[in-house]
Amino acid sequence: MVNLSRRNLLMTDNKKKSVSVSSLVRQYRNAFMANGDSPAGVLWPRGRQSLRFDALTRHFSGNDFSVLDYGCGLAHLKPYLDQRFDRYKYYGADLVPEFVEVVKGKYPDVGVQLVQTYEDIKKSVDHVVISGTFNMIDSSDRAEYLEHVQAALVHLFSLVRVSLSVNFMTDRVDFMQNQALHVNVSEMADFIRNHLSTRLMVDESYMPYEFTVVVFKDNEIVRPDNIYRQS
Ligand SMILES: C[S@@+](CC[C@H](N)C(=O)[O-])C[C@H]1O[C@@H](n2cnc3c(N)ncnc32)[C@H](O)[C@@H]1O
Repeated sequence: MVNLSRRNLLMTDNKKKSVSVSSLVRQYRNAFMANGDSPAGVLWPRGRQSLRFDALTRHFSGNDFSVLDYGCGLAHLKPYLDQRFDRYKYYGADLVPEFVEVVKGKYPDVGVQLVQTYEDIKKSVDHVVISGTFNMIDSSDRAEYLEHVQAALVHLFSLVRVSLSVNFMTDRVDFMQNQALHVNVSEMADFIRNHLSTRLMVDESYMPYEFTVVVFKDNEIVRPDNIYRQS
């Protein structure tokens, strides 16, 4: 039985302050009730998921990998990956109980976890993908929420064997909705370089107001050639 008061609280990593997520859960729930199993149902009103999924997963190779879709929503990433790979293992995790139930119904063989915070994720995987998960600030304090996002990236990266990819909305926009988290590309790249890995790709080429960072776990330099190992 899920404890409601706990479900609606996130604890920030460092300060252990509580951040209400009830408004966020409510907004996703309402979007789903209004729009059903569609991009608009996970608050991507204009779709374009395949552009995002391509930027987040273009580097995947082989077939025998595992991927955790953190903030999976209705698991729209899965059919996208199914077109390219046939033996990989997909896992989902989300805060919204309705999304988790829908995903279990659509894909009974998939492991999908209802989470209250990123700290609930303990399992190692090859890749973590985070698409749109941190687009909405659910705190009156943007800086506090950004700290929470950064702590989530550090934690989830500690669990990956190959890569973590994440997308954000950029701060190079004329208009920002109150609750939207717009991120400075250079600052996020610096954070990732300093706290996750020096081996990363920043992709600002696929959409004008969003960007993706792909971070690789293996950043060992092969000497004397001064190249990275292929992974
Ligand atoms: C914009 S939707 C994107 C869904 C999916 N990744 C996609 O691209 O279709 C963001 C999703 O992240 C989930 N989410 C937001 N904050 C989260 C958190 N802290 N932990 C886990 N999931 C979260 C929301 O419930 C929602 O399903």
